[in-house]
Amino acid sequence: MVDTCWEDDHKAMDVEVRKEMKQIHLEKVTEDNVGGIVRLRVAKEQKSFVASNDWSLIDAYLSLAEGKPVFPFGIYYGKTLVGFIMMDYGDDWTGYEREAWLNSEDYKFFEGKKYYYVWRFMIDKKYQGRGYGKEAMKLALDFIRTFPCGKAEYSALSYEPENEVAKKLYASFGFKEILGPGYYEEGDEITAVLKL
Ligand SMILES: CC(C)(COP(=O)(O)OP(=O)(O)OC[C@H]1O[C@@H](n2cnc3c(N)ncnc32)[C@H](O)[C@@H]1OP(=O)(O)O)[C@@H](O)C(=O)NCCC(=O)NCCS
Repeated sequence: MVDTCWEDDHKAMDVEVRKEMKQIHLEKVTEDNVGGIVRLRVAKEQKSFVASNDWSLIDAYLSLAEGKPVFPFGIYYGKTLVGFIMMDYGDDWTGYEREAWLNSEDYKFFEGKKYYYVWRFMIDKKYQGRGYGKEAMKLALDFIRTFPCGKAEYSALSYEPENEVAKKLYASFGFKEILGPGYYEEGDEITAVLKL
């Protein structure tokens, strides 16, 4: 049995209250909401910024199959599904993308450190620009700070250099880019970290 670090307590976070009160909250992916999650869409021009949710769920499956914990959530406004966010935990990169990671400059920063990674994040195009993304990121960081897999020094994430909205949103929470512009080649995502 894989230790996923999930505990039922994590669903607490006043979910019931938020469901009733038309507030943003996170709910685990289950057989009841997975169909809705794979139907969420970003705008056409945003497709290169994030993997599709069905692909993200395949990634979640592959991670779990390798024994790596992963935390995929639906983002809800009251009872309405508006987005998807997925986090994971690392203290040593042993996953199926290991080779690419070991060759990256970012790896030098993370080597020997523990961190929670915000791996995928999207708000459906119909619901963007209403403050839901910001609120969901706050809840994701609250979740990370419960340290479900144990203490970690950092939260980390990455984004396309031209994704100005995401870049600004993450910076507003204190995420800082770990490498200067000279390190990135065309097509690379920028990695940023937040000290927890
Ligand atoms: C990035 C994303 C999750 C933000 O979610 P959102 O619900 O639209 O964001 P919010 O409404 O909470 O807005 C957050 C900030 O971005 C700004 N913003 C949102 N959409 C914007 C737009 N189209 N243009 C300019 N600014 C925008 C808001 O004004 C707000 O800024 P403020 O805090 O200074 O007021 C969403 O745009 C998205 O899903 N994008 C496509 C997928 C993606 O890029 N995911 C991230 C991958 S790294």
